[in-house]
Amino acid sequence: MITFDEATGIFHLQGKQTSYFMQKNEHNHLFHLYWGSRLAKRLPDYVLKEIKRASYIADTDHIKEYKLERLPQEYPAFGNSDLRKPAYQLSFQNGTQISDFRYIAHEISEGKPSLEGLPSLRESADCETLKITLQDDYQQVSMFLFYTLYEEADIITRHIELRNNSSDKLEINQLNSACVELPTNDLDLLHLSGSWARETHIQRTPLSQLNYRVESTRGSSSHEHNPFIALMDKETTETTGSVYSMNLVYSGNFEATVDVEMQDAVRMQIGINSTLFDWQLQPGKTFISPEAVLVYSQHGLQELTHKYHQAYQNYLMPPKFAKKERPILVNSWEACYFDLQEESLLELASSSKELGVELFVLDDGWFGHRDDTSSSLGDWFVDKQKFPQGLEHFINQIKQIGLDFGIWVEPEMISEDSDLYRKHPDWCIEVPGRLKSYSRGQFVLDLANAKVQDYLIEVLSELFQRYDIDYVKWDMNRSMTEAGSNILTNSQQKEFYHRYILGLYRVLETVTEQFPEILFENCAGGGGRFDPGMMYYMPQTWTSDDTDAIERLTIQEGSSLIYPAISMGAHVSQVPNHQIGRVTPLNTRGVVAMQGNFGYEMDLSKLSTEEKQEIQAQIDQFKLIRSTVQLGKFYRLAVPVKDNAKAWLFIDDQQVVVSYVQIHAKPNSPSKRLKLTGLNSETLYQLPSGEKRYGDELMAFGLAIDVVHKDFYSQQWILKKVEDE
Ligand code: GLA
Repeated sequence: MITFDEATGIFHLQGKQTSYFMQKNEHNHLFHLYWGSRLAKRLPDYVLKEIKRASYIADTDHIKEYKLERLPQEYPAFGNSDLRKPAYQLSFQNGTQISDFRYIAHEISEGKPSLEGLPSLRESADCETLKITLQDDYQQVSMFLFYTLYEEADIITRHIELRNNSSDKLEINQLNSACVELPTNDLDLLHLSGSWARETHIQRTPLSQLNYRVESTRGSSSHEHNPFIALMDKETTETTGSVYSMNLVYSGNFEATVDVEMQDAVRMQIGINSTLFDWQLQPGKTFISPEAVLVYSQHGLQELTHKYHQAYQNYLMPPKFAKKERPILVNSWEACYFDLQEESLLELASSSKELGVELFVLDDGWFGHRDDTSSSLGDWFVDKQKFPQGLEHFINQIKQIGLDFGIWVEPEMISEDSDLYRKHPDWCIEVPGRLKSYSRGQFVLDLANAKVQDYLIEVLSELFQRYDIDYVKWDMNRSMTEAGSNILTNSQQKEFYHRYILGLYRVLETVTEQFPEILFENCAGGGGRFDPGMMYYMPQTWTSDDTDAIERLTIQEGSSLIYPAISMGAHVSQVPNHQIGRVTPLNTRGVVAMQGNFGYEMDLSKLSTEEKQEIQAQIDQFKLIRSTVQLGKFYRLAVPVKDNAKAWLFIDDQQVVVSYVQIHAKPNSPSKRLKLTGLNSETLYQLPSGEKRYGDELMAFGLAIDVVHKDFYSQQWILKKVEDE
């Protein structure tokens, strides 16, 4: 419920377990009062009054006393007596950047408006939207703050719109999507960082008086940092303590900042990265910021995870796929790389089918004359050397084998050695006259150019129309450098990165709408663009190019913090592992890959009889637990020996699936138990051994872990719900 109290000027966004208060004072400035556990009875109208040295004294000529810096701002401006980091910065025609937007009106309505040209959470039956209009008396500019409350899901989404009503051009230097102030700095900062093949490592840092910045300037949300940030009590654990978090529904350069100022207050913000962004807002035009998702948890990281998972599965993913179990796939990449031969691919497909695989994915190398990374991106027609009878013929055979067919594309890229480049050399992102850098042997297409967008829509539509394709893996394999556009004017060049993303969203919107039956998988060299923006169009992501089971434990744990299992691709691959050289047991590779959308990234046609049997059993097992993993509830479990194991469980109405992976064997290790969580105390479960245990026993005593002197050992239990005795 969203309410406004005239007498106090307080807005209350009251979710199922969370309250968010802001207050407009008599001078129409908007202040942030509170974000935390739900308050039911009283509006905190005393909070602002109790802040010392913050009174407003002005005569007609001067503001004599108004220390805005002492007050928690809802959406802080630049250039006034608050010298902390602003939420936005605008350059006006008179050369100044000072602004003072004040409340003039608000509107509370049912439902939720969508954001034109940008992905955002879809509305729920119970959502309500608050739109606050602010105006700067000195400038003809309107600012609209949007808040949508999802009451049951207990989350808030926010975004900002800015309209230029003047006859002058306005420059937007920064426009964050959300800002929140917390009254204490006795907090830890949590973020998800890494690099290629090491994505989403959870980092936790205690705050001190400093400015923190989690960001991407790579053109995509990036492997380096996920567009997510959280602040939490120092004591916060998996199940206890407060967590305040923000996740940006955006796939390009972002910044998430935390500023601890000299009076110890903390300002947390998220939005488009202002370093590489200036936007010329023409008279009469409106700029729309991306959406930020705000999630508060009173009960540690577990509750935070549940709120994100439910919100993203229910309101962000394409509804058609949100609750649809995903096919078990085999992907040609690590099995064959560029060495695609029709006969061996068909062998791979038939062997996979026999083992129970459901989808065959033809990865990189099927088009143009692509035998390595140096050519053909842009030429999305089949390589007749590799598929002499054409792609249709190949797909038909895959379908006859009884598998669905998926294909890899990297539409945003172009190779210098391609027909597309020979025809349109000016379609790359580049700064005219300046050398451009190769990365992975390729350049990036200029998606800020509408002609390039149209071309991509046309060529992809043709491809997806012509062939019987069930799944598309949409890749994006390099960062952007020398980023400029041949079609933008000099003064628009700093709009490039955002225009690229808007162009990408237009292409994605059109293509996914045109082919609603195709299951799209998002990939950017693994998880380089694993963000809610992409999730709006593509319900799953290839979590990482690192397929090593032990590395994946950390990567998947980080991703699982916000993104649901049904969105995370996880495959079993060959050993020694291609990224890290580690040898892990097949069972452990299987257990780890069963934490997401399960599949294989290896040559299943070249297996020993023993391996074949094991893989068949793995696939059978996954089919038994798939709906629990993909549609159930997920819990990270505390392990008896921290840092040397990971454990997690999925639960639904029928069963509990528990997975445990030990990293290193330890000598003389005593027998340990793994306590479960999230179970109903009185429900009776049958263990794989046939023994029965009640939920409360499993939570109090847990399951006995094998004492095994082997590195990378794993166990998985399916606990079936049975009738009470
Ligand atoms: C990226 C992807 C891989 C594979 C290769 C193909 O690295 O993440 O899974 O598709 O590209 O070139």
